[in-house]
Formats: sequence, structure tokens, C-alpha cells
Amino acid sequence: MVKSFIPHLVFGVLAVLGVSLVNAEDPYLYFTWTVTYGTRSILGVPQQVILINGQFPGPKLDVVTNNNIILNLMNKLDQPFLMTWNGIKQRKNSWQDGVLGTNCPIPPNSNYTYKFQAKDQIGSYTYFPSTLMHRAAGGFGALNIIHRSGDPNPLCKP
Ligand SMILES: *[C@@H]1O[C@H](CO)[C@@H](O)[C@H](O)[C@H]1NC(C)=O
Repeated sequence: MVKSFIPHLVFGVLAVLGVSLVNAEDPYLYFTWTVTYGTRSILGVPQQVILINGQFPGPKLDVVTNNNIILNLMNKLDQPFLMTWNGIKQRKNSWQDGVLGTNCPIPPNSNYTYKFQAKDQIGSYTYFPSTLMHRAAGGFGALNIIHRSGDPNPLCKP
């Protein structure tokens, strides 16, 4: 009686574990970005540019499909600053899109935490400032969404 019960118990425990693993949330990625002015000589002469964590262009965001991105952005410019995640669908999440009308610019010396998911997307995108002429001065960078291991890669081999 006891002997036949044990395999059932083991199977039951494994089944419960399996269900809880399948229901696990997609991974969370945390970033802290500080936006400042800086000087770079992109065209040969020094000019004021916009840096993210001291970098021009900004840091490359490499994420995997369905990752949750929690990005705390500190604006150290003397103007309001707003970042858009171009190409991210922001389903039911339009207030994270970083364009006027859905998202308020971040006032100087303030921060805002963007929370969005790279839901069911694969590809190469960009992020950039969406207000004033900031995009012309920097604050932009690459946003790559890589397919999950196990998902078929929909792109042909080059
Ligand atoms: C601003 O940053 C602080 C410290 O990192 C954080 O606790 C807070 O939630 C952030 N505020 C917003 C509105 O994102």
C-alpha cells in the first residue's frame, strides 16, 4: 500500500512544481540611467551633447522577448526630458511610451521609472528623446530584443 503511494506522491509534487515553474513571470531587468550634458567632438569641434551614464550614444539595451524592463531615469539637464522606446508596442501600457499626450516630460533634477515589457517582439529598435531638439544632441541608443532560446528565430541566416 505504502509502496504504491510513494510514486504517486513524487509525481504529484513534480506536477505541482511543473505548473508553478510554467507560470513563473518573465524575467525583470533593472536599469538606472542618468541623463547629463557633456562635451564631445563628433564633427571635429567640441560641442555640447546629451549623455546617458556618461555615454554617447547611450547604453545598448539588450533584452530578450518578454523581458520586463524597469528603467529608472534621472534627468540632470536644465530642461524637461522625455524618452521614447521606438517600436515597443506598449500594449495596454501607452503611458510608458514617452511621447507627449501619454507621458509627461521628466522635470529637471527629477526621475521617472519606465516599466514595460518587450512583449512578443523580436528585432532591432532604438530609443531617443521625443521632445524639444534633444534627439539632435544625443540621448539615443540601440534597443535589441533577442528571441528566447527555444523560440524559433523567424529571420533567415545571413
Ligand atoms: C526615483 O528614484 C528613487 C531612487 O532610485 C526611487 O525610489 C523612486 O521610486 C523613483 N521615482 C520615480 C517616480 O520613479
